[in-house]
Amino acid sequence: MTRPSVESVNCSLIAVAPPENGQPVTVEVLINNTLQSLVLIQTDGKPRLFLNQCPHQGRRLDYAPGKFLCKNETLVCAAHGAVFAMASGLCVQGPCRGESLTAFEAQWQPDGQLAVFWP
Ligand code: FES
Repeated sequence: MTRPSVESVNCSLIAVAPPENGQPVTVEVLINNTLQSLVLIQTDGKPRLFLNQCPHQGRRLDYAPGKFLCKNETLVCAAHGAVFAMASGLCVQGPCRGESLTAFEAQWQPDGQLAVFWP
């Protein structure tokens, strides 16, 4: 008799209020024993979660903790102006055009917490 395989899932639950649509906020999440700054954006009623790190030179995206430059459903890196689509994290303009922010799966739970998943 063979045992069914069980995949392990890495997940954290965080208590955070849903941000306004298109208004990014930062959340700190312990991922693989390292506290990471993530950017939470609500678009189309869904949470989008990205590492707060630009693929261009690895700088934080915010110009001050939790303060972001936003325009027309895009997020602009404060360092050199790379422009990222909020819905996908894809850089659509700037020095790292075509690259993407590191995304994490996230789901709102019935109790209002946000579940964050990583591989
Ligand atoms: S570090 Fe973000 S555009 Fe250069």
